Amino acid sequence: MEITSLHDIVLNKSQNLQQQLYRQIVAKIITGELAPSMRLPSSRRLADELSISRNTVIKTIEQLCDEGYTTSLRGSGVYIHDKLNHQQLTRHRHKPAQVFALPKLSNKIAQLNSLKRDDNKNLPFSPGLTAIDQFPFAIWQQLLKHHASRKLLYGYNEIKGYLPLRQSLVNYLAHSRGVKCDAEQVIITQGVQHGINLCAQALLNPGDRVIVEEPGYISAKRVFESYQTEISTVQLAQQSIDVDQLNQPKYRDAKLLYSTPTHQYPMGGILSADQRLALLAWAAENKTWLLEDDYDSEFNFCQKPVAAIQGLSDTAPVIYLGSFSKTLFPSIRLGYLVVPKAVSQHFSYLKGVSCGESPLVEQAVLAEFIDEGHFTRHIRRMRKHYHEKWQHLQQQLKQLPNNCQTVAYSAGMHLVLKISGIDEHHLCQFLLNYGYAPSALSDYYYNSDKQTGLVLGFANTNGEQREHIVELINQYLKQQQS
Ligand SMILES: Cc1ncc(COP(=O)(O)O)c(C=O)c1O
Repeated sequence: MEITSLHDIVLNKSQNLQQQLYRQIVAKIITGELAPSMRLPSSRRLADELSISRNTVIKTIEQLCDEGYTTSLRGSGVYIHDKLNHQQLTRHRHKPAQVFALPKLSNKIAQLNSLKRDDNKNLPFSPGLTAIDQFPFAIWQQLLKHHASRKLLYGYNEIKGYLPLRQSLVNYLAHSRGVKCDAEQVIITQGVQHGINLCAQALLNPGDRVIVEEPGYISAKRVFESYQTEISTVQLAQQSIDVDQLNQPKYRDAKLLYSTPTHQYPMGGILSADQRLALLAWAAENKTWLLEDDYDSEFNFCQKPVAAIQGLSDTAPVIYLGSFSKTLFPSIRLGYLVVPKAVSQHFSYLKGVSCGESPLVEQAVLAEFIDEGHFTRHIRRMRKHYHEKWQHLQQQLKQLPNNCQTVAYSAGMHLVLKISGIDEHHLCQFLLNYGYAPSALSDYYYNSDKQTGLVLGFANTNGEQREHIVELINQYLKQQQS
């Protein structure tokens, strides 16, 4: 049967005509509009009808013949190939969405389905957001301009990360955090989240026991859950991990413990020196990997930041996790792991398999930013800046009624406000109407007695906003009472 016309083909003259014509004819074949054995109009007619050159039509038809969609019979014309497999073609035809089923996803995806969307991470009071306006953009841009012109940085590089950056980190971590390592032990990551993932891949098998703090960093727990591990929680004592509890038999078979010992997240406690040593001894004796997440300890307001536990022992199985999300800005997506020498090559292979190298230009910028002293200067400045905000917010919170209690350790970028007897999610929604996004305290708990209240990130707020949110909380609590 002759196809009389292909007049409904619409071509955009500013784009490649051959490709457009080819795609539209193939689409008609797949949908069955052009059936096997039908004859195409002659190239001259098609060219006239579509107002394009005959040459374009001939080339398109040649491509269709080459790929087996059509066949050319000498002296008779070009036909839709009659050997096109009808079943295969119908499989590609458009079906209504409800009938169209993709192959099954992994079990991990089913677990993640219960997660809440978090669209408010850039709003004031969202925990973890830095004071972005305070970042030394001019210096950063200058360094970026310089390194972006270095052709050397446009190829592949070491999987572990750019060596000058790893060396800068070795020096910085030794002086500021008491971490003992050499560059071989440093693995650059895409932030702590990526670091935790690498650790889970490297250290855990399904069914292994993992201990996390209660309350604690939910994003870490999600990673461990997604590796089908058994999760146990350990309570806090004085807002830090209660190390004594770890001697209970239920923790004996633990393969890994994730902890924030230098600034418990979110409660803020700082583990005392004897407890840190006890934690290290427990991990070494119990043969449990200790993941030390040192996410924001640089911001200790009243004393020198407490050193990391990694540097206190040469024999405990500690992996140190750090990030530039808090010390610089979250979108930099660069962090680091410090792993024992004996496993550093394994981590390097693992990183190679899972994501390959880290962005090189940014790593070079960061290395120079650290080496030239900009990093420590920025941290020093931000420590003062956050301290002022922390004091101001604390002062404001004193106006709240008795059922509100501030948990304020002199460190970090957030404050915890415990509020008893409220529906804190309702309160969060109320505050969101005003553009503020603190988190609900109970969301940081996994299973035991959940405390209610708010986790108030204050780093990215101004004085007016801090005063306003306290007024709003007061107003909300009064409304609830009446
Ligand atoms: C406990 C904790 N660790 C680490 C991070 C930083 O994670 P990342 O480096 O993936 O941005 C955060 C951020 O909020 C955090 O709260």
